[in-house]
Amino acid sequence: MSAENMYENILTELKNNIFYITINREVKLNALNIQTLSEIKNAILSIYNNSEVRGVILTGSGKKAFAAGADIAEFADFNVEQGTKLSADGHIVLRAIENCPKPVIAAVNGFALGGGNELAMSCHMRVAAENAKFGQPEVNLGLTPGYAGTQRLPQLIGKGKAFEYLMTADIMDAQTALNLGLVNHVVPADHLIEKCEEILNKIKTKSPLAIASVIRCVNAHYEKRADGNEFEVNEFGNFFGSEDFIEGTKAFMERRPANFKGN
Ligand code: COA
Repeated sequence: MSAENMYENILTELKNNIFYITINREVKLNALNIQTLSEIKNAILSIYNNSEVRGVILTGSGKKAFAAGADIAEFADFNVEQGTKLSADGHIVLRAIENCPKPVIAAVNGFALGGGNELAMSCHMRVAAENAKFGQPEVNLGLTPGYAGTQRLPQLIGKGKAFEYLMTADIMDAQTALNLGLVNHVVPADHLIEKCEEILNKIKTKSPLAIASVIRCVNAHYEKRADGNEFEVNEFGNFFGSEDFIEGTKAFMERRPANFKGN
């Protein structure tokens, strides 16, 4: 079975070294039920060691929503045990995205609410369409965010603003999200994927080893048990044994573009 048709709730495609994942539950505004999250996790893990893939774009189908949250209908009757498992499993999915050795960009094409915003925040970058809307409205449901929204929102927009949005459930427009640092760029909706491709095409010219290391080093800073500075020192030192490092420095001195092989 080809990668294109092995999932029920997402679409996947590999084109020009970019892996596209599209959440495909448009009638439910791409709400993230358990199956959808599990498919996203499997899709991401499937490209971890695929050297053909140099970047990932994650988006939602249709023009209205990236993902309007966890699937409220699915969890409405869950008990404490089920609710705890829902959150723990969601954390695993989002960590698989955050730790993906290839750059992952969320192309936010509409509502990114609750779990949808948390999913976008687990990506390395976010590009928003002008009509995108962001928020953590869980408190409206008598809930706290369950997919690390309380952790990643302060990391991206600062503690004070994060408290405000987490506690008021206010919805943020794309321009505000840009001003606060939640998204990297805001573009017209019909240029959304193109903008993500432009960023990934630039990254594609760099050493995949160096890009994977940047992801590990930055993530190490936020990993409570790890010292990011110490982590970076070790990562940096290891490059002195890689062929890409030798090629990169040689190319610089020979005033030519580097030809990285990922070794
Ligand atoms: N979970 C489950 N279903 C959802 C959903 C969610 N998070 N968000 C939207 N849907 C469903 C709706 O139930 C509706 O399904 P139906 O047609 O079978 O009734 C469909 O998607 C369309 O949504 P609708 O509410 O009719 O669209 P709208 O344009 O009136 O409103 C929103 C859009 C995003 C403002 C609204 O859907 C909403 O508030 N969603 C929930 C957001 C939220 O609280 N997310 C956090 C969850 S933890």
